[in-house]
Order: sequence, then C-alpha cells, then structure tokens
Amino acid sequence: MSNRLPVDHVVNSDGSSGWKSSPGGLVTALEPVMRAAEGAWIGWAGVADTEFAPFENDGIEIIPVPLSESEIEQYYEGFSNDTLWPLYHDVIAPPQYHREWWEAYVQVNRRFAEAAARYAATEAVVWVQDYQLQLVPEMLRELRPDLVIGFFDHIPFPPYGIFSQLPWRKQILKGLLGADVIGFQRVADAGNFTRAVRRLFGFTTRGNVVEVIGDDGDVRHVVARTFPISIDVAGYEEIAARPEVQERARQIRHDLGDPKVVMLGVDRLDYTKGIGHRLKAFGELLAENRLQVEDVTLVQVASPSRERVATYMALRDEIELQVGRLNGEFSTISHSAIAYLHHGYPREEMVALYLAADVMLVTALRDGMNLVAKEYVACRADNTGVMVLSEFAGASDELRQAIIVNPHDIAGLKDAIVAAVEMPKREQARRMRALRKTVNGNTVNDWSKSFLDTLTGRAAVPRGIP
Ligand code: G6P
Repeated sequence: MSNRLPVDHVVNSDGSSGWKSSPGGLVTALEPVMRAAEGAWIGWAGVADTEFAPFENDGIEIIPVPLSESEIEQYYEGFSNDTLWPLYHDVIAPPQYHREWWEAYVQVNRRFAEAAARYAATEAVVWVQDYQLQLVPEMLRELRPDLVIGFFDHIPFPPYGIFSQLPWRKQILKGLLGADVIGFQRVADAGNFTRAVRRLFGFTTRGNVVEVIGDDGDVRHVVARTFPISIDVAGYEEIAARPEVQERARQIRHDLGDPKVVMLGVDRLDYTKGIGHRLKAFGELLAENRLQVEDVTLVQVASPSRERVATYMALRDEIELQVGRLNGEFSTISHSAIAYLHHGYPREEMVALYLAADVMLVTALRDGMNLVAKEYVACRADNTGVMVLSEFAGASDELRQAIIVNPHDIAGLKDAIVAAVEMPKREQARRMRALRKTVNGNTVNDWSKSFLDTLTGRAAVPRGIP
C-alpha cells in the first residue's frame, strides 16, 4: 500500500483516457517486488473525485482508493507535502501546521486502512509505504488483528528536536507502532524514531526492538531498524547494454556539441535536492575560469513535482531564474552552459543520459536514500564516470567511493566538482568498481526480501543495531 499507485490515471487532450506509469523512487523500487509476489497494490490513482474498480496491470492487481479534490489539497498537498515533507527534511522549508489538514490526513489514512481490511486475505502480509500513511498500521491492526503489518519510511525520520514540533507527534508514533516491523533508510533515522518513542511514551527499547505497552496493558514487540532501499540493478544493466541506448547516449553528447565533460543532475524539482547549491557552485567555477563553457556542459533534468504547492512554485521560479542568468552570462552561440529540462523521461532515456554523463551530481540537502545515485552506478558497466554525492543523502552510507560533499559548503562543492572533472581514468575505475560491487550487493530484491523475511519471522531479528 502506498499513497500513489504505480500507474496514474490520465485523460488525454482528445478526451480518451488510460493508465500511465507514475514517477518517483518508491514506485520504481516496489514495482518489480510486487510483480514477483503477485500481490495487490492499494493506492490513489492521481486524479480527483473518481472511483475505479480494481483491475490488473502488468501482473499486479491494482486497487484504487478515491480522493476528493479537497482531500488532495489537505491530505496530499497539505499535510503530507507541506507539513510532514519539510518537517522530515530538516525544515529546509517551513512546515505548515493546520488542524483541518490533520483531520483530512486521519480521514484518508482510515480509508486506506479500510481498503486493506476489505481486500486482504486471512493472515495476509500488508506492507504500508511512506510518510503519507503513517496512521494506517494502527488503524489496520484494530480492524484486522490477524494481519501481519509492515511499514517502511522512505524519507528521513527527523531528530527529536525537530519531530517534537509536530502538534500530532504522539498520534503519528502510535500509528506507526501498530506495525510489526518499521523500516528506515539510515541508522540515524531508526535512532531518531526509537529516541522519540522513549521520550514521548517512556517505552523501553532493546537494540532494535521497542516494547510497546497498549492501553490495556498488553505488551507487543515492534522491530524498528534499517533496510536501505535499492533499485532493480539487473533491469538498469540490461537497458544500459542495449546498442540503441548506447547509440542514443552518443547522440546526446553529439547534440550537446561533444563537450569534453558532460555533467548531469537528475531530480524531482524539489527544494530538498540542493539544485540551487549545485548551480551556484557551477556558476562560480565558470566565472573563475576553473571550468570553461567550451569544455563542460551541465545537463539538469528537473522533473515536475507537486506543482500546486506554493513552496514548489517558488522553487521553480528561483531555479529557472538562476539557470537563465547563468546561461545568459556564460553560454556562447555554440555552447550552452546548462541544458535545463523540466520534464520526466522514460527509463530508456534516463539510462542514455547516465551513459552520456562523465560526472553525476547528487547534492541533496536531505534525502531518504536517493535512487538516482544507485541508478547511475548500475549503468556504468565500463567502470568510467565519477559521482559527487551529498553526505545528507542516505545513499552516502553505502556509496563511500563517491566524492562525498557537504552541499552547503560551496567552496568544498566546487573543489569536488573540479576533482571529479579532472579525475584520471584509473582512479575513476577503482572507485566505480567498488561502487558497482556495493550496488550489486544490495538490490531492490535483497531489500524487500530482507524486510519481508523479518516481517514474517523467517529472519532472525538482528539485535544491537537500531
Ligand atoms: C518520494 C516519496 C514518495 C513519492 C515520490 C513522488 O520518493 O518518498 O512517497 O511518491 O517522492 O512524489 P509524489 O508526491 O509525486 O508522489
């Protein structure tokens, strides 16, 4: 179960309608898992005020949950993306607290819980995904005590000093504790969660197990630990090996004027991604002649996201002003400093971009994992290419051979970009080989297997690490 289904309902300009694959890291990660499990996926179809009957799509049973226009505004754009999202990402943008948004969040979470309660077989495993649905585990447990319930938090879980701002902090924690296993991306996230549970409820935690004492005095044990998410590595490798995709990568470089170095940023247009910091560093390097526009082009894919939320509108204006200024300042007739693309692209085109890029820039100010970082590595079968990776992205816990940066430190970021551009091929290969080994050692199948095995008790519960 996730807020968004793997497919969005779309109405075309000629009035016809259909289902189109929806964007985002969560869907990318879970689709292969669900297909393999022949499971049912409960979620929202991405449109307002429309009811759809369950149907099958590409081997997955799809169970759409309807949302009204006002629920989209208050539960999705409001509480999920203008309260929880900024709060959980280090308050990079100020979270908005509105009681009516909270009411809508409770109401929609109940609808999701009821859908699962209706469709799940006896003693079935229900895996709830992400911050939009944190109340579902507790609600579902009340409706269907027979179910095995897991929850995975794809985004960071904030430190107590930040989390405690939330007027509904206790309700959120109680909601999550309805699960048997709660998964996080990083050790720090699991630690923040167990600390919040101790502070707010006084529950004891032993290693990664929380002793939950119910209102009736009943004791339950809930596992809260890390399961770093990954990607369909073999799927990316297969696309990257296709001759037509490799040809497309050559074509991209050619169309960019065959610069010596192609740098690439790929993000949803989100303030957590540090796109502005990246552009600032790049602009200063051009201004100081440490990089030349004839030699280096930055391709920035910024896929449209949450476009009706005011913070996202303001961010788009800011980034596009910055891109326009830098291009105005540094581009020549034959060379653009930045190729800025405000679009989402199919996976094949993304892989061609990864293959075309000598340097990948992931400069998130805070990010649960950042699957783009893993996708880039999975595509670089010839062991070339360099990644500059923010220490504030979960991926930096695993991808240690990237050039790790603090994106707030613009001087450090500039040095890292220059080091990436100048890195000798041997050094690139040494690092990329190690990165590829890491990414291959934890694929999305390993991730889901390890979570589900823990949930169903087939794996011993590791103790001692949160
Ligand atoms: C992140 C979140 C997902 C979300 C995705 C796209 O990856 O963790 O839960 O689906 O962004 O955002 P959207 O609001 O369009 O679903």
